[in-house]
Amino acid sequence: MMGKGFLSGLIVGIVGAVLFSQWGSAVASKETGAAPCLPADKVAEYVHSVIQADREFYTTDIVERMQLRGIVFASEHWRETARLPLPAQFLLESGRLVSQQRNGIRFRLISDWAINKTNRPATEFERAGLTEILLNPDRPYTGVTTEGGQPVFQALYPDKAVSQTCIGCHNAHPNSPKKDFKSHDVMGGILLTIPLPR
Ligand code: HEC
Repeated sequence: MMGKGFLSGLIVGIVGAVLFSQWGSAVASKETGAAPCLPADKVAEYVHSVIQADREFYTTDIVERMQLRGIVFASEHWRETARLPLPAQFLLESGRLVSQQRNGIRFRLISDWAINKTNRPATEFERAGLTEILLNPDRPYTGVTTEGGQPVFQALYPDKAVSQTCIGCHNAHPNSPKKDFKSHDVMGGILLTIPLPR
């Protein structure tokens, strides 16, 4: 009997505590108001840092580590072979998956000297951005544009030849229109698109 009374007391206590805490947090959120808004350029900066970290980890700890040990190599034709995707393809493929989520956020790699023609600039913003990041390679080119009536914030981050392998591969690639990339050259840019409220 004692046990039953204790148990029901405990249940009432737990339910009460949960309800009270929810009421408490509802009151607290009303007091603090809506969450503060982040400026679009900050959001872009955060998303870009995640993309870069993933790409860096994939390049050094997967592709380069596996190649160094002779386990598996990266190749442009990874789909048809037992190879790993190139880091640029890793970024482009994850960008394709993100665009399928249809929440409006998108990213891809573009360049005036693209190996793959589909990575060439397609809009006025992209063309202007690629010119601008050559002149100011230490900051992104940003702006607000519209796409299908939807206002979007866009940021183009310079993509530099950070290692000899970037230059070696691009300069030697038969489809590369530029054969004289040098160390630390801006080879293109990471284009990030974030939807804005209408
Ligand atoms: C082994 C060869 C190889 C290496 C190494 C390489 N790339 Fe690429 N890169 C490619 C190929 C191939 C593409 C086209 C991929 C596609 O769209 O399918 C590409 C695409 C790109 C693009 C998009 C424009 C284009 O050319 O299509 C940029 C920008 C780029 N790479 C920059 C870099 C940078 C920076 C590095 C070094 C950190 C690098 N790449 C290393 C082969 C390489």
